Amino acid sequence: MKEPRWVFPDYCHRQALEEFVNEYHIYDQNPIPGIGFYEQCEGCFDEWIKKEKKMHLGIDIEPPFVPSTTYLYMLDNEVIGCVNIRHCLSKKLMKRGGNIGYSVAPKFRKQGYATKMLEETLAFCKQWDIWPVLVTCDETNIASMKVIEKCGGVFDNQFRNTLRYWIGEEK
Ligand SMILES: CC(C)(COP(=O)(O)OP(=O)(O)OC[C@H]1O[C@@H](n2cnc3c(N)ncnc32)[C@H](O)[C@@H]1OP(=O)(O)O)[C@@H](O)C(=O)NCCC(=O)NCCS
Repeated sequence: MKEPRWVFPDYCHRQALEEFVNEYHIYDQNPIPGIGFYEQCEGCFDEWIKKEKKMHLGIDIEPPFVPSTTYLYMLDNEVIGCVNIRHCLSKKLMKRGGNIGYSVAPKFRKQGYATKMLEETLAFCKQWDIWPVLVTCDETNIASMKVIEKCGGVFDNQFRNTLRYWIGEEK
């Protein structure tokens, strides 16, 4: 059985990513958590790749944005999901958004992938000294709440409709 792998988005992932986005939006028109600046680039894939490289390297980043890294979780040529790691917390991210955003393609949901993705992303964060980690979700997002709690999230408080959890150290 093949294991999914993490990849930094590049030009060769265009078709797989477009399929992921199109399938995602059949079920949900909201912006996709964890896909970085993809939707802001409005379909210009090459521009998105350049933007993600700059965000990862911390180049040309205007406040209130902070350096961030987007990874795709892929099985063969399919995108199972994506994560976006914010390297530090702005005032806004402190309230809502936190250090990590993630999504799983509808057809891969309820198979434990988000839990596995968050667990593995936490290992990247630890390695990069992004620790402790703030993870947030909407109060109605039961699936995400379960994912965060299974990965060791300790509930801190609620800001408007956002639940805030710390992983690694209680604040
Ligand atoms: C939230 C999301 C990432 C969960 O992905 P997933 O791969 O289905 O999650 P998992 O399979 O790891 O499931 C984790 C838990 O949530 C439960 N779960 C999954 N989908 C659920 C749903 N729609 N309703 C209730 N519980 C759900 C699973 O049963 C599992 O619980 P269990 O351990 O008690 O069995 C996915 O639904 C998604 O991409 N949603 C849209 C984007 C989003 O909300 N991202 C998070 C932003 S904070």
